[in-house]
Amino acid sequence: MAAIVALEAASFPLDPWSENLVGEGVSGSLPTVTYLVAERDGAFAGHAVLSVVDVDAELQRIAVPEELRRTGVATALLAAVRAVAAAGGAGRVLLEVREDNTAARRFYERHGFAELGRRPRYYRDGTDALVLASPVTMVP
Ligand SMILES: CC(C)(COP(=O)(O)OP(=O)(O)OC[C@H]1O[C@@H](n2cnc3c(N)ncnc32)[C@H](O)[C@@H]1OP(=O)(O)O)[C@@H](O)C(=O)NCCC(=O)NCCS
Repeated sequence: MAAIVALEAASFPLDPWSENLVGEGVSGSLPTVTYLVAERDGAFAGHAVLSVVDVDAELQRIAVPEELRRTGVATALLAAVRAVAAAGGAGRVLLEVREDNTAARRFYERHGFAELGRRPRYYRDGTDALVLASPVTMVP
């Protein structure tokens, strides 16, 4: 759990999830929420968090340590996210991404996400969020 909290702080400096929030999710006390952890050579290599509610799965978090990026870890996490979403009966995966997060936007575009809408000034610093969606069964 400490590795997830540390990666939250490094990857989302403006809005990291706290130890309490991560602890609550990891302990399973949030019924719709699933935490997925990637490992490489037995060591923590990233996390993804999704919430499945009815036909919508929301990808709330996905992050990979900087030194492991562009090596396919998030692609593997996303495949697991889709599998959990499908098993939960969801038809699509939704997410919000900062408009200025070029790496994440390229990643999602590569994996079949399309823009569904925009939430103006969604983030604390005034940046817009883009709402992206993809069918749950999309094969990368
Ligand atoms: C977005 C993020 C999760 C991608 O993780 P990753 O493990 O590096 O992604 P992958 O290695 O699976 O990348 C797959 C493809 O996505 C695209 N991509 C990923 N990072 C990219 C970047 N920095 N620039 C351009 N394209 C990128 C590429 O098409 C890449 O394939 P390629 O490396 O063969 O060109 C990672 O950059 C990250 O942790 N960022 C900080 C946290 C964050 O912003 N999360 C998303 C919040 S909405």
